[in-house]
Amino acid sequence: MCGIIGIASNKPVSINIINSLKKLEYRGYDSAGLATLKDNIINEKKCSGRVEELEKILFKTPSNGNIGIGHVRWATHGIPNIVNAHPHSSEQVSVVHNGIIENSDEIKKDLESKGIKFKSQTDTEVVTLLITEALKASKPLESVFKTLKKLKGSFALGIIFKNFSNIIIGARRGSPLAVGYSKNENYIGSDSYALKSMTNKISYLDDGELCVLTKDEVSFYDSRLKKVNKKILTMSENEGSTDKGEYKHFMIKEIVEQPLTVKNCIDEYVDSLKKNINIVNFPIEPQKINKIILIGCGTAYNSCLTAKYWFEELTSIDVEIDIASEFRYRKIKFNSNNLYIFVSQSGETADTAAALDICKKNNVKTCSIVNVIESTIARNSDWVLPIHAGIEIGVASTKAFLGQLTVLYILCLKLAFIRKDIDGNNYVKNIINLKKLPEAIKTCLKSESNIQLMAKEFVSAKGSMFLGRGSSYPIALEGALKLKELSYLHAEGYPAGEMKHGPLALIEEGLPVIVIAPKDKYFEKTISNMQEVIARGGKIIFITDNKKESLNENIRFGLRVPHVDNFLSPVLLTLPLQMLAYHVALLKNCDVDKPRNLAKSVTVE
Ligand code: G6P
Repeated sequence: MCGIIGIASNKPVSINIINSLKKLEYRGYDSAGLATLKDNIINEKKCSGRVEELEKILFKTPSNGNIGIGHVRWATHGIPNIVNAHPHSSEQVSVVHNGIIENSDEIKKDLESKGIKFKSQTDTEVVTLLITEALKASKPLESVFKTLKKLKGSFALGIIFKNFSNIIIGARRGSPLAVGYSKNENYIGSDSYALKSMTNKISYLDDGELCVLTKDEVSFYDSRLKKVNKKILTMSENEGSTDKGEYKHFMIKEIVEQPLTVKNCIDEYVDSLKKNINIVNFPIEPQKINKIILIGCGTAYNSCLTAKYWFEELTSIDVEIDIASEFRYRKIKFNSNNLYIFVSQSGETADTAAALDICKKNNVKTCSIVNVIESTIARNSDWVLPIHAGIEIGVASTKAFLGQLTVLYILCLKLAFIRKDIDGNNYVKNIINLKKLPEAIKTCLKSESNIQLMAKEFVSAKGSMFLGRGSSYPIALEGALKLKELSYLHAEGYPAGEMKHGPLALIEEGLPVIVIAPKDKYFEKTISNMQEVIARGGKIIFITDNKKESLNENIRFGLRVPHVDNFLSPVLLTLPLQMLAYHVALLKNCDVDKPRNLAKSVTVE
């Protein structure tokens, strides 16, 4: 994953590098570093851990220089320590890198056989040393070009040169790289978000391209080193603020924002007066869509799985779902009448982006449901449906999940109506119900104090289980994912009906088991499954929207969410689970916004 930044300016750059790195921390926070260039000396500063630490180092020993590169790391090759932190510098060059050099071992052996010594365990250092070797005979751009030819894998690079003190070279293959423009200053960055406080004028490198930046100009080259021109785009304004405001963590702020973000999303797509959904320009004529394939990773995959239940119930379209990292390597039978939908908060997830590329190579129509509209996935798909959730900073996705569900549901309703799978009355009824959702979310948020009590049950638990049937099954998966991401507690999500085929063996006295049971067609069956857990000593936490169900003594905790239309209950049932994960993490003193070993945007496969 990792985040990279580079600034060429007419004034010192280290403070702006630090500020950009803070924005890039969602990509990794194992270590941070920067290198600036002054009087032909590369000045490198690194730390293990957070950008805050790097800032303290700089405060004590400032780095001067009007040109520099910076990096936040999510460790792939080599443990997260100072030695493995980027930049990786030789006497001649300094390199920051995002992605993976797949043939680094091979290159390393070859360089070592020539007597070249390595300092770190990273794959990046081979890039530094290859460029250093090439510089003996060539200029910077040619040296980078020659080096790129030797590399396999997916990466983005930022490079500065001791003896060419006014340039930064950027290169990308697979991993994204943006270029930003300003007066007397130009930038490279892993994404436009990192550049947003400095400029709203950006371009994106296409795969295989390189760029050479000075403070005054930027030149672009294709993969054969032929000069190319780039469009300069103007970035949209930020939707949502990027500070915590009155909240202790971004995650709780983002949870609390959900009534508003869901409302914004509905308002973008639903014409309240005409009770109609404004979705046009389908890449395939809706009547002709043969199948929908929904693809994502992590939380986004859980939203795909929820939507499968909706599409199957409401439309006549066959639906498949897939985890992007699996999809990309399978022998898929592509069909031009299928619509391939990619769901991603960041729009940068490497596996999802690669799965999209495969679809494009097979000439099928693609749609993306994303939060970041300037992202790689959005730019590469035929059709984009933004979720309008605003910037999400907490690593564990919350408001983006609800945004994804909202857009998927809206798309499902529209398709069902156009294809005449539901009639006009039903269509309007469902739209009216949807409009009530933000208020119901607000009501759900009021149960936070009960959830704080519930969270105590998890602090000394060995593990936990989340059970649901039908569209509550993906919500069980999402609840378990949130809890394990944030509190490092083992948590499994299961279809309640599947318990007897193995997982029941895990139930023992006092194990917390969250049963998600809205009043839908599965309700009685879920209750029977719950009884099987109770009989084996499981400690039940029961979440329902069923007003009639009395909570008996076998249920340790019960929580009611407002009753809404059955299709929308997965959205509401998610809220207590998000808050539960948050409060368990607080009680366990875990870093809520930056859980260990994770990153928000996963740009490696
Ligand atoms: C990471 C994040 C998850 C997210 C997943 C997919 O693992 O920590 O919260 O669900 O990536 O990210 P995307 O940006 O594609 O939705």
